Amino acid sequence: MHLTLRQLTIFNAVARHQSFSRAAAELCLSQPAVSLQVRQLEQNLGLPLLEQLGKRVFLTGAGQEVFRASRGVAQQLQELKQALDEIQGLERGQLSVAVASTVNYFAPRLLAGFSRRHPGVHICLTVTNRQGLLEHLEQNDIDVALMGQPPETGDLVAEAFLPNPLVVIARPDHPLTEARSVPLEALRGETFLLRERGSGTRSAMERFFGEHGMTLSTGMEMNTNEAIKQGVEAGLGLGIVSLHTAGLELEMGRLVTLEVEGFPILRQWYVVHHRGKRLSQAAQAFRDFVLREAPRDLPGGNTSPARAEGDMPGTSGIMRRGPTQGRGQQRQGSTSPGR
Ligand code: PGA
Repeated sequence: MHLTLRQLTIFNAVARHQSFSRAAAELCLSQPAVSLQVRQLEQNLGLPLLEQLGKRVFLTGAGQEVFRASRGVAQQLQELKQALDEIQGLERGQLSVAVASTVNYFAPRLLAGFSRRHPGVHICLTVTNRQGLLEHLEQNDIDVALMGQPPETGDLVAEAFLPNPLVVIARPDHPLTEARSVPLEALRGETFLLRERGSGTRSAMERFFGEHGMTLSTGMEMNTNEAIKQGVEAGLGLGIVSLHTAGLELEMGRLVTLEVEGFPILRQWYVVHHRGKRLSQAAQAFRDFVLREAPRDLPGGNTSPARAEGDMPGTSGIMRRGPTQGRGQQRQGSTSPGR
């Protein structure tokens, strides 16, 4: 039997995701490269491993056997990687970070700062929504995630590093922009553009209105913050987004925030890892870097009202709040960074 570790690893990702494109994204490879490796594995073994029906991928009987074996190998490779990362330390270590699509508005700035400090560390960045991040943490195929508050399952260590205000955005000519203060009830007649299921922004929004006994009229569902902002600009409805995603449009006056009662919904960004994860030196250094630098360096995280307001237009001074509410705060009885 002839097969390579690379083929097995790639097959494992395809089988887990039941998707070539999601496997490619996880492995930071192109989709054709993933398909080629799987095809070669099938040729090497002389058996079909996958069946593709429409966009969905299913395992054949042989595929299930190979998948079972690949999980054991993946586990051993992960342990080997951790051991090697520890030996390589910060000189040549690997770091696998996954961030919420909303965090991606500031994650590159953090990664750039970290890279300048540790140029030898090779970073793989995955961008997905909250649901995707929880799956990565569960599968133990990333080192750390930057995301909204994770569920309190006890399996995750989550440390808050930056406030994440959710605001209502509108076109500048929307009638509600006239009001200095918009009662929540006034939103009943409005149409809202929604992020996709699995988005943390969406679940926070649904929770908020649920707690206030309101069901909103919802318009289109869109799976990026960019699409929501464009939709709001185009007059499709109102949107609720993290302030971190809308800085540019607010500054340029293409969008405004509405002063709605109860808003902004104040959330936090967290740096999260699996409780059972033995963080490599590079991962520990990144976690420390985020907790230390993000509150200093990112919009909304500093203590200077002048700069904060400049960075975050249309927030009515909410950025004057203490920048590090929860900075370094640990949830779920989180443990020392080394775990
Ligand atoms: P998301 O952001 O909406 O891009 O999933 C994560 C979160 O707010 O928890």
